[in-house]
Amino acid sequence: MQNEFKDKVIVITGAAGNLGRAVAEKFAQFGSRLALLDLKQDSLDAVAQALPEDAETRAYPVNLLESNAVNAVIQQVKADFGRIDVLANIAGGFTMGPLMQDTEDKDWDFMLNLNARSVFYTAREVIPSMLENQSGRIINISARAALEGKGRMGPYCASKAAVKTLTESLAAENKFDNITVNCILPGTIDTPQNREAMPDADFNNWVPTSALADVVVFLASDAARCVTGAAIPVYGRS
Ligand SMILES: NC(=O)c1ccc[n+]([C@@H]2O[C@H](COP(=O)([O-])OP(=O)(O)OC[C@H]3O[C@@H](n4cnc5c(N)ncnc54)[C@H](OP(=O)(O)O)[C@@H]3O)[C@@H](O)[C@H]2O)c1
Repeated sequence: MQNEFKDKVIVITGAAGNLGRAVAEKFAQFGSRLALLDLKQDSLDAVAQALPEDAETRAYPVNLLESNAVNAVIQQVKADFGRIDVLANIAGGFTMGPLMQDTEDKDWDFMLNLNARSVFYTAREVIPSMLENQSGRIINISARAALEGKGRMGPYCASKAAVKTLTESLAAENKFDNITVNCILPGTIDTPQNREAMPDADFNNWVPTSALADVVVFLASDAARCVTGAAIPVYGRS
């Protein structure tokens, strides 16, 4: 499976985050060409420096909530690399909210924008070039919380449910053009932030970022060519 990714152009959003870094490391090992997107140049530089020296990477600082900026950065990636083979939409986030009646507009907007609007913006700009190539893979990160609303997590659950149904819509629209669109539903990921927030939990039950990155790689691979519109649970023992 690994050779097929040599020289493939992989766009990774949230590339400076926990899972984004793991996904970048995995594709770098396979000799892919990486477009790393995240908010801050210095965080992206740190990720690029930690990758193998011969990895071909470019850093693109961008706010994924600004449509013009997203359009410009995707066009820049195309100009720099010539094509886009895989879009891995990893950027996203979580905030534990108050009760719904105490939730402010800004809290709702923050979750819906960060998790759902960002996926809409990147997919909208990338799909036309994948259609031209008659080839493409889009992998979105939803969450287990997409499947059932939980208390004090209303905007988050709604935003991740939106990622799941956006994935299904994109898959339906592009299934005759050799473009697959799938999402992953992680359980609790083993991250430094989660360890700090839940110090008494058994971290062994959580999902390592490398295990999620393996599923991203599978979905990007030829082996998954007939998988589209799927929402794949990756819960570990969490
Ligand atoms: N952690 C979990 O337990 C868990 C569970 C289920 C699903 N997920 C999902 O899995 C994915 C990866 O999680 P993670 O733990 O790796 O998250 P993370 O470490 O917080 O990484 C997310 C990255 O996205 C960047 N980002 C935030 N807002 C952005 C914006 N407007 N434009 C561009 N980049 C932006 C962040 O930058 P800054 O750090 O500078 O803000 C960060 O580098 C997310 O979609 C998350 O919702 C996580």
